[in-house]
Amino acid sequence: MAFGVYVHIPYCIQRCTYCDFATYEQSKILPPDQYVELLFKEIRQKHRYYTPQSLDTIYFGGGTPSLIPAHLIVAIIKELGRFGYTTRPDTEITIEINPATISEEKLKVYLDHGVNRFSVGAQTFDDRLLKMVNREHSAKQTLQTLDLLRAHDLNFSFDILFALPSQTVAGLKNDVKIAIEQGARHISPYCLTVPDGHPLSKGRPVDDEQIEMFDIIASELTTNGFQQYEISNFARPGFESRHNMLYWVDEPYWSLGLSAHSYSKESSWGTRYWNINSIGEYQKQILAFDGQEFTTPTHHLPKEQYEVLEMHQALTDFCHTSMRLMQGLKTERLAQKFPLSVQEKVCGLLKGLEEKSWVRHDNGHWSLTREGLVLSNKVFQELTFLEGDL
Ligand SMILES: C[S@@+](CC[C@H](N)C(=O)[O-])C[C@H]1O[C@@H](n2cnc3c(N)ncnc32)[C@H](O)[C@@H]1O
Ligand code: SF4
Repeated sequence: MAFGVYVHIPYCIQRCTYCDFATYEQSKILPPDQYVELLFKEIRQKHRYYTPQSLDTIYFGGGTPSLIPAHLIVAIIKELGRFGYTTRPDTEITIEINPATISEEKLKVYLDHGVNRFSVGAQTFDDRLLKMVNREHSAKQTLQTLDLLRAHDLNFSFDILFALPSQTVAGLKNDVKIAIEQGARHISPYCLTVPDGHPLSKGRPVDDEQIEMFDIIASELTTNGFQQYEISNFARPGFESRHNMLYWVDEPYWSLGLSAHSYSKESSWGTRYWNINSIGEYQKQILAFDGQEFTTPTHHLPKEQYEVLEMHQALTDFCHTSMRLMQGLKTERLAQKFPLSVQEKVCGLLKGLEEKSWVRHDNGHWSLTREGLVLSNKVFQELTFLEGDL
């Protein structure tokens, strides 16, 4: 069984207009060293809930983890190690970095302590669009950051945001072309998601254009040696995100920090628990538990912070996460986890979706077709199970 740790670093230079993640402008939150002290307390409190073991992955996400001093990132890796969650030479250690927040010195500290994967929030190389969504960097600064990573021959990934207001197909093609030329080994294109009435909801490409934009990204990337391995993730062979794979193949993960979500195999169908998403409340909860040992979410957390999954919820999660992957849902894994009657129900539903050409069945794998990819929300809806359905 693979196992990884996610660490949330909720600091940003400024808030991007579209972002809904739990993160703060750096002047509006406690200093980073104090936040890291809270993470240390959380590690101390919860380290026995999982079995201490060498880690397959660590992922520093945000926010902007590259904004806080690099020695704090190292201190977190060391603190995990002190409690038995050690790293190996092959542990994938990813850090999200925003352009213009990284220097040669910072990079050296990361590299000296095993960080080996860099996820760059490029978003777009169009300065007008970057400004429109309140990004704090220019395209030139992104390119300078990439020069630095390339000079060290590092493994880096790009996030690309598309379907922004007034963005054109030609503009998007240019973004993808630059991303490929710059040597990214992994690219995650995200279609802008904002609620109705949001300032960025006006003037956006319409649904058909959004689909066309995604098709263009997919075909440019696949002709250039990338493989789509998940709905919104492409990688050169061997450069898939091992950390994100934990989420999609039903492996446990421990997440630390503000609003972080964890998953364990503690109960029959798995348990999810999560931290509060307001920094003041998170701090209060961690400090109130100081000196105590967290044995299980059901003992120590209020009901709104955990979910002991029932079979229908575990099955829904299993179907959704498996079908997000291009390798699809393996009938063998379905059979390992669920009783025969459930397997038959799921296969029946999948056969119905096959008749609509939304999924295909190949060598024990059910996966989305091109049409199913476009209509994935409908496929997921069909594979959502409620209490009493099974
Ligand atoms: C939470 S951010 C963290 C990475 C880094 N702070 C950055 O912004 O570059 C992770 C990714 O989520 C994506 N994202 C955030 N808000 C989004 C939204 N409303 N719609 C689509 N993608 C979004 C962005 O592409 C971003 O790179
Ligand atoms: S930098 Fe990233 S995490 Fe911070 S506000 Fe912008 S999108 Fe959100």
